This record gives sequence, C-alpha cells and structure tokens, in this order.
Amino acid sequence: MITQLLPVSEQSLAMASALLRQGELVAFPTETVYGLGADALNAEAVRNIFSAKGRPADNPLIVHIYDRSQLDPLCEIPEASLPLMEAFWPGPLTLLFPRKSTVPDVVTAGLPTVAIRMPSHPAAAALLRVSGVPVAAPSANRSGRPSPTTAAHVLEDLQDRIPLILDGGPCEVGLESTVLDLSHGDPVILRPGGITKDMLEKVLQRPVAVAGSVLRPLRENETALSPGMRYKHYAPRAVLTLVEGDPGKVVSLMRKRCLADRAEGRTACVLCFREHMEALRECNPHDIGSLSHPEETAHRLFDVLRALDEEGMDSVYSEVLPPEGMGLAVMNRLGRAAAFRTLRAD
Ligand code: TXA
Ligand code: MG
Repeated sequence: MITQLLPVSEQSLAMASALLRQGELVAFPTETVYGLGADALNAEAVRNIFSAKGRPADNPLIVHIYDRSQLDPLCEIPEASLPLMEAFWPGPLTLLFPRKSTVPDVVTAGLPTVAIRMPSHPAAAALLRVSGVPVAAPSANRSGRPSPTTAAHVLEDLQDRIPLILDGGPCEVGLESTVLDLSHGDPVILRPGGITKDMLEKVLQRPVAVAGSVLRPLRENETALSPGMRYKHYAPRAVLTLVEGDPGKVVSLMRKRCLADRAEGRTACVLCFREHMEALRECNPHDIGSLSHPEETAHRLFDVLRALDEEGMDSVYSEVLPPEGMGLAVMNRLGRAAAFRTLRAD
C-alpha cells in the first residue's frame, strides 16, 4: 500500500472522510499528538489499527467525537462528567464512561468503560464532522515508539501501512491527553497530560488522585488501571538516565558521566534546559526548552527522543522537572522512556 501525505484542505478532508467511512485508516493531527483513526463502530476497521501499529489487543482505544450529541449512542453520561466537558471540551482531556453495547469489544479491549475525547484541533474537528462517524484513534506511532508530533514522524513509523496521512503541522501540546477515570466515584488521573490536576480540581471542587504508577514502574502483580501503562513506552534504543538534584551539581554530573562514557567508546549526549546548553556544550546537548516553561518541554520531548535513535546514541543523560502542572505529564513520559533509571547529584 502506498501512503499519501497531504496537507489539510477541503479536498484532503473529503478524501479522508470517505476512507474512514469505507473502513480504511487515516492518520490526522490533533492538538496533542497525531492519531491513527478508524470508524469506531466498524470492528474490522478498528482491528486494522492494531495490526498497523503492532499494538497489543488488550490495550483499549480512545473514541474521538466533535459534538456531545454523539455520546448518547456510545455510553452512559455520569453527572460528574458534565462540568468537565463544559470546561475542557474540546481539548486534551479524555474521560472514561460506562459503555453501551454499540461500541465493539475491540475498541475497549472488553472493558466496561469507553474512553472518549473531543479534540480541539480544527482539522480533527472537521474530519469528525465531515465523516459523521465516531473515530477510534490511538497515537499514530508504531507501538513502543514515541508518539508522533509531526506528519513526518507518522510517515517514519507507518509508511506503506496506511493509505493517508493528513499533515496539519506540528502538534501544539506535544504530549497525549490527560486520561481521567470518574467511573469509581473518586476521580483518578490514569495518564497526566495537557489538562493538569490543578485545572481538574478547580472545576470539580474536590481532590483528584494520580494513579501510583504514573511516576514509578508497575509493581509485580499490580494491575494497570489504564492498560497502556503496562507496556514499555517511548523507550529510545539508548540507555537513558535521569539526573536530579541541585541544578549546578546536576550539570556537572551529567558532563562527567557523558565524557566518561565517551572515553569508553560509547556515543553519549545530554538532554538539558536551554539555560544549561552552554555549560554542557561538549556533550552534544539537546535543547528540551526553558526551565521555566514546562509546556515547551512537553512540546519538544517526543521529537528529541526520536532524534536520539536517529543519531545512534548509546547513552543519554537528562535533566528533570518538578512533577507539578505540565511537569507531571513530562516526567511520566520521560520516566518511562528511562525505565525510571535515576541518578542523584549531591
Ligand atoms: O491525546 C491523545 O489521547 C491521543 C490523540 C490521538 O487523541 N491518543 C492517544 O491514544 O494517546 P493511545 O491509544 O496512544 O492512548 C490511550 C490510553 C492508553 O494508555 C489506554 O490504555 C488508555 O488510554 N485507555 C483507553 N481506553 C481505556 C479504558 N476504557 N480504561 C482505561 N484506560 C483506557
Ligand atoms: Mg500511544
């Protein structure tokens, strides 16, 4: 199969919509990351998403809608979800709802809930509106690779596996949506993302918990609340190590380790904040944004992780952010990419 890559236009949207209605797959931009979509009510089409990505069948998908009127055939709508939809839809918040039987098992991996989100990206909204179908879409990467934040990333991973990629430029947020579970009464963040814990608490007027496995590996025998958390994710081929502690000491430890690895014949580099690029200039520094703008780190992270593989790195050291606000989402993805391997500099 030949993959077409087309800029978003009225024609390409019409073509994408027709493909979706015929049960084909289409990659499209959202404000978080690119998604790989199929008609959520067509089980055969949804199965093709799993084979194109190489995704384990027990990892459920998010269903994308453009209008709340699409919810009723798919799920029950708990009262507590109303203020959240009001405040954050369209936008990077995914909610779990009790599913109805119209949703094929392959979408939810047999779970009693279905994950739903309303993306704010105009091209995603237009695609959903023109096609008229709810669209099941995971991130448009091969399973185990960082999520794609540009159409070029999608092409790298899925060339010749899907008929069409809509190119809408780089994604604004750069990390996947926040996944919130309200189905057990107390709200729990299963995956942190663009909508932060503080933002959710302000609207819900109550504390929001964060699943324990967000900032550490799953323990043996622990069941993942969100099946996606079970899998090794975003792991570059390089051995990635996080370095935390006093900033001055972090910079000098990263430099020392990087140069020591090189002396032993390994290719090594560092991921650092822009403020430390100069101090780490001998270490092939990769800019992860400014210290004071975690949103910028979120926006750049997956692109930087992909570059490490292209550059054939063996060993990489990275600075960390406080796990607050957008920093929580960044540290969840960076932690998993590093298999939570951490050095303390003090
Ligand atoms: O921003 C996003 O959410 C992007 C864009 C394309 O919308 N999509 C995305 O999908 O990141 P995916 O499939 O890569 O991640 C979905 C996550 C997985 O961790 C999955 O296990 C979890 O959501 N999930 C889906 N349905 C669930 C359910 N019913 N219960 C618990 N977790 C669920
Ligand atoms: Mg994904």
